[in-house]
Amino acid sequence: MPFKISSFEEYQSEYKKSTANPEAFWDDIAKHYQWSKPWDKTLEWEFKTPKVKWFLGGKLNITENCIDRHLKDKGDQKALIWESNDPNEESTSLTYNQLHQEVCKMANVLKSHGIKKGDRVCFYMPMILELGISVLACARIGAIHSVVFAGFSSKALADRIKDASCKMLITSDGINRGGKKIPAKTLVDEALKDCPSIESVLVKRCCGLEINMKAGRDFEIPVELEKVNADCPAEPMDSEDPLFILYTSGSTGKPKGVVHTCGGYMVYAGYSFANVFQYENKDVYWCTADIGWITGHSYILYGPLLNGATSIMFEGIPTFPDAGRFWDVVDKHKVNQFYTAPTAIRALMACGDQHFENKNLSSLKVIGSVGEPINEEAWHWYNDKIGKGNCALVDTWWQTETGGIMLSGLGKHSPMKPSHAGYPLPGIQTVLLDQSGKEIEANQQEGYLAVKFPWPSIIRTTYGDHERCKNVYFSHYDGYYFTGDGAKRDENGMYRVIGRVDDVINCSGHRLGTAEVEDALDEHEEVVESAVVGYPHPIKGQGIYAFVIIDSKMQASEEIKKSIIDTIISEIGPIAKPDKIQFVSGLPKTRSGKIMRRILRKIAEGDTSNLGDVSTLIDPTVVEEIKGGKV
Ligand code: WT7
Repeated sequence: MPFKISSFEEYQSEYKKSTANPEAFWDDIAKHYQWSKPWDKTLEWEFKTPKVKWFLGGKLNITENCIDRHLKDKGDQKALIWESNDPNEESTSLTYNQLHQEVCKMANVLKSHGIKKGDRVCFYMPMILELGISVLACARIGAIHSVVFAGFSSKALADRIKDASCKMLITSDGINRGGKKIPAKTLVDEALKDCPSIESVLVKRCCGLEINMKAGRDFEIPVELEKVNADCPAEPMDSEDPLFILYTSGSTGKPKGVVHTCGGYMVYAGYSFANVFQYENKDVYWCTADIGWITGHSYILYGPLLNGATSIMFEGIPTFPDAGRFWDVVDKHKVNQFYTAPTAIRALMACGDQHFENKNLSSLKVIGSVGEPINEEAWHWYNDKIGKGNCALVDTWWQTETGGIMLSGLGKHSPMKPSHAGYPLPGIQTVLLDQSGKEIEANQQEGYLAVKFPWPSIIRTTYGDHERCKNVYFSHYDGYYFTGDGAKRDENGMYRVIGRVDDVINCSGHRLGTAEVEDALDEHEEVVESAVVGYPHPIKGQGIYAFVIIDSKMQASEEIKKSIIDTIISEIGPIAKPDKIQFVSGLPKTRSGKIMRRILRKIAEGDTSNLGDVSTLIDPTVVEEIKGGKV
């Protein structure tokens, strides 16, 4: 039974096995990991409640699988390489031996501050080694990590801390991002005015910023590390104990905390990494994502480390000091597998060929894409200019909720087709549904992408609100996990994911709910009502278009626009800044008060020729006004 598949025929036969008898299939895969107690039962499930449990009764610790297990053969091999934001700073690294020591020490620091199994620890940090180490330290002692992307505002951070009642926060003085320094600790101080559950804050200085340290609450990481030893046995965790919470946006309400568990997540993160990237011993692998997103969790830390890989953690951005930075790093570290997002590819494509022409990219074997559909032009540029027509290009479709890659080629073994993610991984039973929830058997038809059988890293719940998990993912179509995406299959059954079919915008690979952005807009004093839609954007994939009604006493002006943008930055963060704001005097609403977003989407796209039926609107004249309006 191969853990790593080595041909397309083998993929096909593994896929067949995995659907004919999923339990037997995953039993075999799970045996490749180290368990302190074997599981009694492989799977229990129903999608109604939903209730999904994998490897019941099994005990394990994911850090033993990520680190301890490799010490005998790979103790001196690099586990993590850190590449600074500043290209002139030396990169540093940790071998598996060193990582083991650092994680154990950090775990002891957490314990010395009263953190126990099941406690929630929040992170708000840049991409420095301490982030990776501390996340693993949580896992070592069974604390649940909740990493918040450090581009979110203090308000958004506070919401997430409160939702999970986090006991500790781990942060830094600031964040180096290109030429800017972001005052992380100051933002944290602001957030913590309103977060009574936080008992202690651990701080790593990496930016040289002046910060306040609150006595009795705030502690310096290096000072705390001096006080502990490097002996920390791994806490045996139940397969179904939570490993982490990660917040993500949906079509309604506030972002929700997606919960992943220790056993199933481990099995799938490791299996999918090995197969999609076809990692080989001694390869250097680089995923450019941030650990604040699921991609960083599964494919910078857990997936690579579970496979004893060498994984790069990059602190910087693609365009600093210039648009050649990615290719410098690939050349410098002789990267073999490279994984990034279409928005970065399009941005770099627009900067011209001079940025990679004198860089040696010949080490690359697999190049990956994730986060949004990759358009054909970007696909070809990536394949031809970066992969030199000589690499496997894997377009990987998945979600925070799926924990790992669901649709993708397996390195060089799978057929490639521009803008197509391809086939489901073994164990992943994807289907397309029509409007009525019936499975579409034929190819070449568009449908809703859903999954009809559980896989090990499927979302277990939304933290503190199981009903929401049920409503969002399991109630649309009985018996299916609903992804929120539309897709189609070509004549050979290869999937092409088209994009969200719900009110979620994918802006530069960041997922934002229209309702969430509207709620933030409505916080502005002069905003009476707003409606937000996505529209095609050449670099970002989708841009954010806001239709805003302001108080009738106010004059629409650039100043108001600016202050509305400031409100968004402080409510959510710069990632949710609207690209366009159009002031309107009314919104197209149906008699039941629902905004007809379909019409707004068309207008935002600039396609006003055929807006369809507007007869159900209370006041169809607003459409004419909006069409003629200016941005
Ligand atoms: C949504 C999930 C999971 C990694 C990062 C995003 C879109 C993701 C692809 C792809 C087309 C994609 C989907 C999905 N998406 N990858 N290869 N092709 N669309 O995670 O923030 O949970 O967003 O991103 O719309 O539902 P996320």
